[in-house]
Amino acid sequence: MPTTPNPTRLAVRPITGVIGAEVSGVDLAEIDDETLAELHDAWLAHLVLFIRNQDLSPEQHVAFARRFGTLHIHPFAPNLGPEFPEIIPLDTSNNSAPVEWHSDATFEQEPPMGSILRALEVPPVGGQTVWASMYAAYDALSPTMQTMLAELSAAHDSSFTFGAGGRSGSFSQDTASGAQRQVAHPVVRTHPVTGRRSLFVNQQFTSHIVGMKPAESRAILDFLFVHVQQATFQVRLDWAPHTVAMWDNRCTQHYVTADYAGTGRRFMHRVTVMGDRPV
Ligand code: OGA
Ligand code: MN
Repeated sequence: MPTTPNPTRLAVRPITGVIGAEVSGVDLAEIDDETLAELHDAWLAHLVLFIRNQDLSPEQHVAFARRFGTLHIHPFAPNLGPEFPEIIPLDTSNNSAPVEWHSDATFEQEPPMGSILRALEVPPVGGQTVWASMYAAYDALSPTMQTMLAELSAAHDSSFTFGAGGRSGSFSQDTASGAQRQVAHPVVRTHPVTGRRSLFVNQQFTSHIVGMKPAESRAILDFLFVHVQQATFQVRLDWAPHTVAMWDNRCTQHYVTADYAGTGRRFMHRVTVMGDRPV
């Protein structure tokens, strides 16, 4: 995609110097190629973009996401059915959805490059989502720790969240199909577009460091899982209906705050874009 040194079509307002920007002046249902290129540049620069007032139909949501690549069909999470298998309806009202810090579907050999989440209903309070930059988390480590981690790979396993045999533990419906998925990825990956290094282990799917004794693996992962949660690496979104958040799964993790029980329904649609094998 061509880069646009002087964006003129979009208003991009960074929220922190580390991660997150609010984008306005765009209708995602009718975005032209030049504006899309600017949006893509902003996405790479800010890792997660928030775009308000996007009243997209399921068709428009899917069509927008397709402009960034092939869409992921989740092997275990329920989808909207044969017409829209690419859309995951996410009802977190009873807090049964993922609550650990994670990047999406890292149990896949080629985990998703991005996810595009649209709010349909939000509770009156709480239910915000937090994203953290895994570039910043990597950069904050000592050179000695960075060098040690660069040698390691870690196993990612779908069964923590989706059960053995892919049976759904955390999702309210059970439309699971296929067997449990397990794969090893480098602990430090290099972003295929920006060339920056990021930490790529997460509490939801990463089970262990390959080739280590359990206690060694546990100590390193526990350190990293706490390390990535620093407020300095984060941005937080207060949703409204029709807010869209799009994040780069290759260099971020996210977390939904479970602080709104009993206050109202929280309902989202997610479309996920496929990515490369991490290196
Ligand atoms: C997701 C997810 C968080 C949220 O859609 O991948 O983790 O805020 N959702 O609902
Ligand atoms: Mn997620």
